[in-house]
Amino acid sequence: MEVVVLPTYAEMSKAAAAIVANVLNEKPNAVLGMATGSTPLGLYQELVRMHREEGLDFAQVTTFNLDEYVGLRPNHPQSYHYFMHENFFKLVNIAPTNIYIPSGTTSNYRSFCDWYERRITECGGIDVQILGIGSDGHIAFNEPGSSLSSRTRLKTLAKPTIDDNARFFEQREDVPIYAITMGVGTILEARTLVLLANGKNKATACAAMVEGPVTSMITASALQLHPDARVFLDDSAAGELKMRDYYDWVRRKKPDAPQT
Ligand code: F6R
Repeated sequence: MEVVVLPTYAEMSKAAAAIVANVLNEKPNAVLGMATGSTPLGLYQELVRMHREEGLDFAQVTTFNLDEYVGLRPNHPQSYHYFMHENFFKLVNIAPTNIYIPSGTTSNYRSFCDWYERRITECGGIDVQILGIGSDGHIAFNEPGSSLSSRTRLKTLAKPTIDDNARFFEQREDVPIYAITMGVGTILEARTLVLLANGKNKATACAAMVEGPVTSMITASALQLHPDARVFLDDSAAGELKMRDYYDWVRRKKPDAPQT
C-alpha cells in the first residue's frame, strides 16, 4: 500500500486525478470504478478541468459505480445516479451507454447484482477503482462484518453511515436503509485502487485501514491485500497514523529509488 499525505484537500484531489489521467493516456478505453459522496468531488472537478483545458478524453471510457441507495429513482437529488450526472458525467464526453450504476429500483435485486458483476467482467475488469472511506471504515457500502470476498449485493446500512449521510437529506428518516454495493471481493479485483480521505472524522478509520489488522470489521483494511493500492490523505485524515514519518520519507526518497 502506498500512503501519500498531502497538506490540503485540493492537492490530494489533484494527485489522485493525475493517476486516473495517466491510466487514460495509456489506455483510452480504460474502465473506471467511480465513488460518490463528498470526498471525490475535488477529484472529479480536476478531471473535468483536465478534460476542458488539456483535452483529457473520456469518449471510449466505461464506468462502473460502487453503489446506489435502494428505493431512490435516478432523478432523486440524493441518488448516486443524480450525483454522478451532475458532478461528472454531464461535464465530460463520456458515452451514456458506457455508464453503469447499480439500480436502486430494480424488481429483482439478486439477478441485477449478478448481471452487474458479469458486465464488469465482460468489459475487461476495472482498471482504476476510486474509493472513499466511511467513518466506520467501510469501502463502498461494505459495512463492518462484510465478507472480504463479498460480491455485488444488497446491504443494510449501519447506523453510523445513516447518521453520516443524514447531512444530505432533509431529515434522518429520509436516509435509505438499504443499498446495492459492489463487494469487497469485487473491489479487490480492480487493477489499481485509489482511496481518498480528508478530515479529522476519518482519522481513526484511516489508521485502522492502513496500520490495523486486516479485518471484515474495517472493510477498508482489505486494501492491505491489494498489490496496487494507493491511499491519498490530507493532514487531518492522517492525524492518527503511527508511521506517518515513514510514509513521508518513502515519498521523498521515491525519485532516487533504483528503477525496477
Ligand atoms: C460512496 C461510497 C462510500 C463513501 C463513504 C465516504 O459511493 O462508496 O463508501 O465513499 O461513505 O463518504 P463521504 O465521501 O461523503 O465522506
